[in-house]
Amino acid sequence: PRPIGVAVLGMGNVGAEVVRILTENADDLRSRVGAPVELRGVSVRDLSRPRSGVPSALLTDDPAALVARDDVDIVVELIGGIEPPRTLIRTALQSGKSVVTANKALMAVHSGELSDAAATSNVDLYFEAAVAGAIPVIRPLTQSLAGDRVTRVAGIVNGTTNFILSEMDETGADYADVLAEAGRLGYAEADPTADVEGHDAAAKAAILASIAFHSRVTASDVYCEGISSITSDDLAAAKKFDCTVKLLAICERIEADGVEKISARVYPALIPFEHPLATVNGAFNAVVVEAENAGRLMFYGQGAGGAPTASAVLGDLVMAARNRVYSGRGPLESTYASLPIAPIDDV
Ligand code: HSE
Repeated sequence: PRPIGVAVLGMGNVGAEVVRILTENADDLRSRVGAPVELRGVSVRDLSRPRSGVPSALLTDDPAALVARDDVDIVVELIGGIEPPRTLIRTALQSGKSVVTANKALMAVHSGELSDAAATSNVDLYFEAAVAGAIPVIRPLTQSLAGDRVTRVAGIVNGTTNFILSEMDETGADYADVLAEAGRLGYAEADPTADVEGHDAAAKAAILASIAFHSRVTASDVYCEGISSITSDDLAAAKKFDCTVKLLAICERIEADGVEKISARVYPALIPFEHPLATVNGAFNAVVVEAENAGRLMFYGQGAGGAPTASAVLGDLVMAARNRVYSGRGPLESTYASLPIAPIDDV
């Protein structure tokens, strides 16, 4: 099969890791996809900034021209924010290209219009990396649980605020110092206001509620309170009641006035020490899903940072690439598994 051409838009923390994995794992990706996956170009805002890990011939500051290239099959959008990503993604989808994005702010507001564009062109629009970094949660909700009825999705979906609250709780550290550290570690948004005021978690709650309940829920539908007014004293007071404080996103089906409705909300909540979410610390995220037949499922892992988020992007990229190669039918796992089985003594 002919190679699958990929354009990466944006080379921040996540974009740099996506380019690294695409390059380092090229052989594995070719096996998993069934065709070579080739990087056609990377768009950056500032061409004069030195970039390691990508040949300069692949760099451009014109993302629209990169998206328009005939040899680009899949566009990976990692710029963030509403524009220009909204226009770039819509144009890509309308011209028959598949799109992978980590853009929660965009998907929390415009997923309806973009999903319609993808459906009209019969191409993929994947966004696993938009919620909870490395943790598979979009695909379980849209595929594994597609035959069930999800009643509740709740959890910790912002790594920055969880890192801040855990550090303040464990070390009594000052809010501003821990926030700066979260930025240095690559967890925080370019403007960390979106993290600490709960807007990032609210965007993720809107995405989760939309897919869990097959509805259109946007960021403005989500009740939102952040953590900027939480002090070390609040955490110490919570401890006296054997509780910690976590910023939770909660999406559920509720019945109000005899009518079934969706509730989506983000706020700092008291969590008893014995609750599984109380032990989710640092930049880790955890999402608890409840479904009528599956019961309760918990997804846990690294929710922020370049490499973990890039892992989710690459997963989507492989799925989208396979779909283009096999017209919706990926190769069987066994067609490329060639490693020997380790005896138990090796473990
Ligand atoms: N700023 C986000 C967080 C990045 O801290 O969770 C991952 O979406």
